[in-house]
Amino acid sequence: MTATRVCALSELEQDTARRVEVDGVAIAVVLDGNGEVHAIGDVCTHGDISLSDGFVEGETLECWAHGSAFSLRTGQPLNLPAYEPVPVFEVTIEGDDVLIDPSVTKVVN
Ligand code: FES
Repeated sequence: MTATRVCALSELEQDTARRVEVDGVAIAVVLDGNGEVHAIGDVCTHGDISLSDGFVEGETLECWAHGSAFSLRTGQPLNLPAYEPVPVFEVTIEGDDVLIDPSVTKVVN
């Protein structure tokens, strides 16, 4: 699979998550306060909640339902009740285009 354009970089609001879908995969795209774009799985691993409806805090995206904050870099929840990570996807920026390939997850050590 190749990377798909999901939105324009200029459409992203800083510290706000945006939900996109690529080939049936729901992804939360976040432009953090440092201008870096992240893409993580949009579905909280604790419940069927869209993480993009939550809150961006530094390099985390917090689920509004019960407060688990997921790292935008590793996908790991940093606090309970969620204990399983969400996937982290590679983001490519080409000009003003934000591209994501949902079949390629980032391996973070
Ligand atoms: S549904 Fe996300 S923390 Fe409970």
